[in-house]
Amino acid sequence: MTPDQAADRLAILAAEIARHNRLYHDQDAPEISDADYDALMRENAALEGAYPDLVRADSPARQVGVAPSGHLAKVPHAKPMLSLDNAFADAEVEEFVARVRRFLALPDDVEVALTAEPKIDGLSCSLRYEQGRLVQAATRGDGAIGEDVTANVRTIADIPETLQGEAPDVFEVRGEVYMAKSDFAALNEALAGTRVFANPRNAAAGSLRQKDAKITAARPLRFLAHGWGEASAVPGETQLGVMDAIRAFGLPVSDLLVRCTSAADALSHYRQIEAGRATMPFDIDGVVYKVDRLDWQQRLGQVARAPRWAIAHKFPAERAQTILNAIDIQVGRTGKLTPVARLEPVTVGGVVVSNATLHNADEIERLGARPGDRVLIQRAGDVIPQIVEVLTRDEERPAFVYPTHCPVCGSEAVREEGEVDIRCTGGLICAVQRFERLRHFVSRGALDIDGLGEKTIDEFLALGWIKEPADIFRLSAHREALLEREGWKAVSVDKLLAAIEAKRAPDAARLLFGLGIRHTGIVTARDLLKRYATLPAIAVLAGEIIGVRDATQPVLGETNARFRNRLDKAVAEHIGVENVGAAVGHALADFFHEPHNVALWDDLLAEVTPPPFVVETQASEVSGQTIVFTGKLVTMSRDEAKAQAERLGAKAAGSVSKATDLVVAGADAGSKLKKAAEFGIRIATEEEWAEIVARAG
Ligand code: IVH
Repeated sequence: MTPDQAADRLAILAAEIARHNRLYHDQDAPEISDADYDALMRENAALEGAYPDLVRADSPARQVGVAPSGHLAKVPHAKPMLSLDNAFADAEVEEFVARVRRFLALPDDVEVALTAEPKIDGLSCSLRYEQGRLVQAATRGDGAIGEDVTANVRTIADIPETLQGEAPDVFEVRGEVYMAKSDFAALNEALAGTRVFANPRNAAAGSLRQKDAKITAARPLRFLAHGWGEASAVPGETQLGVMDAIRAFGLPVSDLLVRCTSAADALSHYRQIEAGRATMPFDIDGVVYKVDRLDWQQRLGQVARAPRWAIAHKFPAERAQTILNAIDIQVGRTGKLTPVARLEPVTVGGVVVSNATLHNADEIERLGARPGDRVLIQRAGDVIPQIVEVLTRDEERPAFVYPTHCPVCGSEAVREEGEVDIRCTGGLICAVQRFERLRHFVSRGALDIDGLGEKTIDEFLALGWIKEPADIFRLSAHREALLEREGWKAVSVDKLLAAIEAKRAPDAARLLFGLGIRHTGIVTARDLLKRYATLPAIAVLAGEIIGVRDATQPVLGETNARFRNRLDKAVAEHIGVENVGAAVGHALADFFHEPHNVALWDDLLAEVTPPPFVVETQASEVSGQTIVFTGKLVTMSRDEAKAQAERLGAKAAGSVSKATDLVVAGADAGSKLKKAAEFGIRIATEEEWAEIVARAG
């Protein structure tokens, strides 16, 4: 791999992992298995190891989870909520203990005691007690800033309002909010027909992160403590000691938490927990080991997002054999054709599996999968099971022929250069894409139109009342006809029409995101609008990119890859927005290249008038100041720090000058810090910066 290719791959990995983080943490709707996610993280780590100069500011290795979503209030964590490094093999656990030993320079005869406990597949939460009373609860969020779920947490029976005994003045208990397997099954049964959750973890997350705590109260959530955050006094000298104290305060702690005296001892506890996994009342996905002595934990500290004193030993994925009955092709919102394996139902890790993902045409070929084959499938404490390998082929069976046309609309299905996916070219002609795009347009993250659910979209599509987004704003013309229809009363019709009218001046970024242009998620839409302010300006930009593409042509002797690289650079440079790359530029250009998309856009903008996009800023002690971030930040990425600065009305600059007001210096800050000291500019640590952000509220 050349450095250029490595840089491209790292950029793709950063974007992909960020997207999966959002799907998992923010939307509770993961698309890939934990195993696949781990594989992406490992590929990223390997590439960063091989090309340390190419490590990105937004490197996934430096981020914990994902930034919190919009609707709950933000809460800065007094102490960052960290993540854990993973081990998969026994040898990696032994290496962890050896590393601890080396770091602390311990002689061979000194024992390294570890605690071992189940890794609960839930959602981490920090509970802040002051004078023994619960005052605040927050999700992890991005590790530095979480979401306020105090009211929601008060509805969880496992979590006491007041601590028993002599608790420190300030004590944050950290642990996992989860849902028992049986409660999850019952909840999904009750929700059947509406939205069901993919697994107990998503059900717990979806139930906790509710604006209306009454919904949380109706959900059977539970809590297990596994640590602590800020503490005015730490009630113990060992991990086990403090966990015992937490138990005595009245909070649940796992019965399977034990102290082990060696790696071998810890591994035997791992096997014991693994053997009982299927019969445990809740999902666990591994065992967490922590160095027991707190003075050693202190000395070991952390690297980037994870402590050096703890590691998660993950269980291998659960596997089973079954028959591949058929391969169906599904069409997604962007026209992507996805093969889905229909399986003879089989139980894997306590869950009946009858579908598995096959990802794409290449994957079918790689596996050599043909309908009728016996296959090995795996499910990794997660969502979509996968086919690992084809086990037998008892009889000659014809190979699966990938369709050349969309199974829904019959348009040609093509694979674009350099892509693995095959897409339907039908666009809005394709009924599935039309439906999915409309559904996306009105969804919570986009225009968020209340009362326009899937069933209603289906109904209006069938009636021919809506074909494209602008039609939604003309639905009032059908008011009388709608009143004639079964299930519609004046109250519900008028409520829907009012909800639509309320979105005549929508947020420009949400509108752009709602159009479902490839690679243009809400974050990208915001980044673009921060720079270009209005949607017409985005259309102009797209036209300019089309111009750039026309003007950039291959030169004699240039390889395809080089040309592509040169073109991508030109496109990205033309956009000139940090974090917005060529893929977005090409997607915008492709969108506006299609006359029917231009018509759809114009039509929509005739119905709605989004006000120019303004970055919301908060009055703060740094409003109007110029801030430079330098050195390694531990609890946040550089990008996030800059975003925080922007939100507080400050400008983040790249270099220190006399005009700089504040320099925030992380670890190993070099020349910029020196320069700041020379100029007598105010210098703050990362922690002080977090305090400034916290004070702004
Ligand atoms: S300790 C400083 N212990 O796993 C270390 N985490 O993959 C913080 N988790 O964010 C975590 N069970 O949400 C710890 N027994 C356990 C856990 C546990 C589940 C979660 C936790 C953490 C994530 C890391």
